[in-house]
Amino acid sequence: MKRTHNCGELRKGDTGKIVSLCGWVDRRRDLGGVIFVDLRDKYGKTQVVFDPARNVDVHKIADSLRNEFVIQVTGEVQSRPEGMQNEKLSTGDIDVKIDELVILNKSENPPLAINDPKEECKENDDLRLRYRYLDLRRPWIQKNLMLKSKLLGETHAFFRRNGFEEIETPVLCKSTPEGARDYIVPSRVNPGKFYALPQSPQQYKQLLMIAGMDRYYQIAKCFRDEDLRADRQPEFTQIDLEMSFVEQNDVMAMLDNYVKEVLAKIWEFEVPEIPRIKYSEAMLRYGSDKPDLRFDLPISDVSNIAANVDFAVFKSTVANKGVVRGIAAKGCVDFTRKQIDDLTSYVGRYGSKGLVWMRVKDGDEVETQVAKFFTTEQLNALRDAVGGKAGDMMFFIAGSEKVAANAMGQLRLEIARIKGLMNSDVRKFAWVTGFPMFEYSETEKRFMSMHHPFTSPIPEHLDMMLGGNLSDCEAQAYDLVLNGVEIGGGSVRIHNPEVQEKVFRLLGLSETQVKEKFGFFVDAFKFGAPPHGGLALGLDRVVATMEGQDSIRDFIAFPKNTSASSPMDQCPSEVDTIQLLETHISLNVQQK
Ligand code: AMO
Ligand code: AMP
Repeated sequence: MKRTHNCGELRKGDTGKIVSLCGWVDRRRDLGGVIFVDLRDKYGKTQVVFDPARNVDVHKIADSLRNEFVIQVTGEVQSRPEGMQNEKLSTGDIDVKIDELVILNKSENPPLAINDPKEECKENDDLRLRYRYLDLRRPWIQKNLMLKSKLLGETHAFFRRNGFEEIETPVLCKSTPEGARDYIVPSRVNPGKFYALPQSPQQYKQLLMIAGMDRYYQIAKCFRDEDLRADRQPEFTQIDLEMSFVEQNDVMAMLDNYVKEVLAKIWEFEVPEIPRIKYSEAMLRYGSDKPDLRFDLPISDVSNIAANVDFAVFKSTVANKGVVRGIAAKGCVDFTRKQIDDLTSYVGRYGSKGLVWMRVKDGDEVETQVAKFFTTEQLNALRDAVGGKAGDMMFFIAGSEKVAANAMGQLRLEIARIKGLMNSDVRKFAWVTGFPMFEYSETEKRFMSMHHPFTSPIPEHLDMMLGGNLSDCEAQAYDLVLNGVEIGGGSVRIHNPEVQEKVFRLLGLSETQVKEKFGFFVDAFKFGAPPHGGLALGLDRVVATMEGQDSIRDFIAFPKNTSASSPMDQCPSEVDTIQLLETHISLNVQQK
């Protein structure tokens, strides 16, 4: 046995024991001839002491130790003298006086400062990813991966005790239309043909319902060739589930329990009942379909007041079917001109042509640079509509409904950031329901599915949809949101083959296209498909958001950088000509 204890284990009660520890040299200090080493492993750090008075030969070897050497030591646990304890370490009450030292392996001088705490990591992302195995030695990243591992364990247990079967679905499959680009894989034995890596197991899980499996779940790898952001990776993991003979409420209730029994248990917090907010209300009040409910700051529509003022920006916007939205930024009356200008350019990034501000002074009097276009009654009406009180700064945006909602939503978040309201210790969940079935795409000049084409409309809107009214049709779709991040989404599916055919047709797919893309899927529905619905949670986003982090990268052992490549193993990379020949591929790469 190489070790009797790990590096996070020894306590005062172990004083006097002879122990063996193994680990990496985290830091080495030489204090007046006595060498102190912080020995690190996954479990923690223990201070080990090489005293020449105890063993001169061992001390000599210890002199050659450098950071990241792997060693095995044996010695006696001793209590640290009064005043020498280290409260930051779980093992800080003791150290180990060493009698034996074996260098199990040396290390070159590491290119990353592994013992830096997170806040002090200075290396750029690509260097960290190039030496990811060293980056992963950092205790704070190891903690992220351990948390994720714990979540995986609890997730499996939850779905098993609720009667879900874990079923694997193919990774080499036919392209599924989830809205992103597919990663494709050539088939050697089928010249000119390609598999797609799954963007999600959507169609397979629905087929499993048709197959009568009743309740399916899988921790599934998904692949999407999309532009990367902090919360998006080309390869990520879903907690994917599907249930038969259910309605929307049943799926949501299952997830309510998951949040209570799994997330709240691991992260030790109370979850009140998760509010359910209609999409239209979320877009109006929060300017987003993923509202951050950690702070209130509601948005109000003031179009009816704005329609009658002399201020051309407001009046003409409303006359042209646009809207005017306002918000009262609590306690922000003292924002400077510079801050207002910054906010104006900030909302400009989201398409707003400007930003009107009004201060609510003592006595609730409204002060603004556009005062001359408004009567006092109109200013007071605007103040009351957005709930402005003395000490607040009110902001207004005029524009198309889409632009005004989005720009206002972004402004709301920015105000919260400035005022420090985004407390990462607070966790606010929300369900967003009642999404539109379809969304008009200006670029494609046609209606597209908002979720995916297998989503069912609410029963009350079925006839309307079949009659061709796509703009008002509401879907049985729902998203789970945590602190302003979409952590999951799902829907009740269409199970009637005629309705499914009709939806494809409404989306502009011809009979031949449907046959080609979804033939097998549509056929399956002709043989008795049960009503069914499901959802997928983004596992990486769940852990990152629960931990109050924006980036999912530190929760994935080997992530890709923003150019979708891995600086460590240099993938993607060229392949041998022979591999190209075997897979019948000839390249047509434009030199940059
Ligand atoms: P959706 O596309 O909404 O739904 O994906 C479900 C959840 O997966 C996470 N997610 C991602 N996480 C990291 N990187 C990405 N690139 C990425 N893309 C998505 C999000 C998202 O909420 N088949 C449907 C689910 C269903 O209807 O049952 C689906 O994939 O947290
Ligand atoms: P202008 O008429 O362009 O000089 O703008 C007068 C004021 O109205 C300025 O403070 C602009 O920032 C603001 N403004 C202009 N367009 C909009 C808009 N669409 N929404 C809100 N404020 C606007």
